[in-house]
Amino acid sequence: MPQYSDKVMDHFTNPRNIGEITDPDGVGEVGNPVCGDMMKFTIKVKDGRIEDVKYLTFGCGAAISVSSMVSEMAKGKTLEEALKITNKQVAEELGGLPGNKMHCSNLGADALHKAIEDYMEKNKIKAESGS
Ligand code: FES
Repeated sequence: MPQYSDKVMDHFTNPRNIGEITDPDGVGEVGNPVCGDMMKFTIKVKDGRIEDVKYLTFGCGAAISVSSMVSEMAKGKTLEEALKITNKQVAEELGGLPGNKMHCSNLGADALHKAIEDYMEKNKIKAESGS
């Protein structure tokens, strides 16, 4: 049994923002080639900010904690700010993840970024900070 931080356990047992926005402005879906798990993020954008964010995850416990944390970090941020959330930051916010679970954190931030890019494409907005 890997050692999880209290924060990971908190988000795992009490995940925030779980679900799917029915009429989303952006959708991002990623699969993890390492384990075959999947994550889907849906976002609502208002005045350039992420007004609401929800996710569904078909993944392990760490993936649930990661997506819950990503959703909390992204809410209220501008699109540019949310695009800068990295997998590493997410793992740090969670108080660290066991080494063999670090790949799970890729899912969360990547799926969020894809949802933002989807919104930007649909609305013909260019990301200011390149990739
Ligand atoms: S083992 Fe698949 S996301 Fe963690």
